[in-house]
Amino acid sequence: MEKLEQLYEGKAKKVFKTNDPKLFIVDYKDDATAFNGEKKGQIAGKGAVNNVMSNIIFQLLEQKGVPTHFVEQLSQRETVVKAVKILPLEVIMRNVSAGSFAKRYGVEEGIVFDQPTFEFSYKNDDLGDPLMCESHALALKLATAEQIETIKKYASIVNETLKEFFLDKGLKLIDFKIEFGLFDGEVILADEISPDTCRLWDVKTNEKMDKDRFRRDLGNVEETYQEVLKRVQK
Ligand code: TMP
Repeated sequence: MEKLEQLYEGKAKKVFKTNDPKLFIVDYKDDATAFNGEKKGQIAGKGAVNNVMSNIIFQLLEQKGVPTHFVEQLSQRETVVKAVKILPLEVIMRNVSAGSFAKRYGVEEGIVFDQPTFEFSYKNDDLGDPLMCESHALALKLATAEQIETIKKYASIVNETLKEFFLDKGLKLIDFKIEFGLFDGEVILADEISPDTCRLWDVKTNEKMDKDRFRRDLGNVEETYQEVLKRVQK
């Protein structure tokens, strides 16, 4: 596998072409941003944590029937993935109120929902990733109705699988964001699942064990990422 020229650099990862047109290599960075890139920083070791953790989770989800972009981990930071075309929809599921949900509706964090919520954001940095309803996604042809049904089905499996997985590690899955891509015309799970993209609260103390430590300047950011990886690897 040859790592060829860089195709794209995002806020948290670089994507490289390979000598196989169907495969990319992603290279996870320690860079951290929040509030649509307004707050910038570094979290030492984050790239390796997010890479290794995403790969463990993607392999688990494959077993549960969710196809993913994962192919092979090359190093602590680098992974071979299927060369997907990312759909410009961020898929967010929530089990407990937090973050933008709590802010939008003027409620406290920590309200446990009877049913998980499902929402889309339009993946567009210039617009600040606005909340988007399904009919608007269809109107703009961001995905087909069939693709959206598939996304909903997979997202529910991701939520159910990860709720149980994290609980076993002493972590409550509060909410998460996932992204899907198209590969050979099929919808598959792509991007990452990590403390950057999930809210995880310690079961006993409710301590925040995710990127909110960086967003909200709560301290112990690096240590928390390492602790989450340690628990995930157990
Ligand atoms: P929110 O409450 O800010 O809308 O975030 C919901 C979930 O999505 C939370 O687990 C963090 C994650 N998320 C991302 O992965 N990327 C983002 O750009 C944002 C805003 C949230």
